Amino acid sequence: MSTHGKLNKVTSATVRDMKRRGEKISMLTAYDYPTALCIDEAGIDMILVGDSLGMVVLGYDSTLPVTMEVMLHHTRAVSSAVQRAMVIADLPFMSYQCSPDDAVRNAGRMLQESGAQGVKLEGGRDFAEATRRMVAAGIPVMAHLGLTPQSVHQLGGYRVQGKDDVGARRILEDARILEEAGAFSLVLECVPASLAADITAALAIPTIGIGAGPRCDGQVLVLHDVMGMFERFTPKFVKKYAQVNALMKEAAQAYITDVREGGFPGPEHSF
Ligand code: KIV
Repeated sequence: MSTHGKLNKVTSATVRDMKRRGEKISMLTAYDYPTALCIDEAGIDMILVGDSLGMVVLGYDSTLPVTMEVMLHHTRAVSSAVQRAMVIADLPFMSYQCSPDDAVRNAGRMLQESGAQGVKLEGGRDFAEATRRMVAAGIPVMAHLGLTPQSVHQLGGYRVQGKDDVGARRILEDARILEEAGAFSLVLECVPASLAADITAALAIPTIGIGAGPRCDGQVLVLHDVMGMFERFTPKFVKKYAQVNALMKEAAQAYITDVREGGFPGPEHSF
């Protein structure tokens, strides 16, 4: 039993040790209670309540409209379900960009009100001070470099980052700065596999890749992509492990037919 009273609870120390031992770290997103329960029972190491929920659950065309209240609402549902995995909540757009004070206050609120064990925020050296302050307040911080979707309008789209020498060097420097500021891990999104490998070798903290090749210390994907639940767009780096959308449509069609033709409810469903 850990001090949380939950069996083998994964913590920031666990994932650091996993890197040291060369064990790969698995992470998926989740945004609700039943899904979090399912992937925790499956043995996932970390669950990210990503602001990607704005796109795959709420139907927005970016993550920018997601607010603190929305993140708190979904993270509470996920935390209620999870026994073992470490739950990380995204700090949404404009909850940390204005000042390190905002970052500490909102990150603290996330841990206090949602039950998450850590927060993730996007951005490089500009957020080193915010990271230092959150860590000093006892909040585990996951950094996020490369493609940072909250900056989509500045980046000019969802594209691979760090392809040229200058960009690659800047991402590597940012990674070192954020490690030094106290981040316990780092998401690398959509960067060349060779750059992710160099960063992974340069850091003591684990790197978690998404579209960053096989040599990161762990991998994260958006659950709706993995399960085949979000058919609007599938990025190149996604591997689909199920076709849940097709399964649900088939089940819905069978139900509709049953209702129309009197196949449901039967005597066994009636009082
Ligand atoms: O919001 C999210 O799901 C993320 C992952 C893509 C890393 O930030």
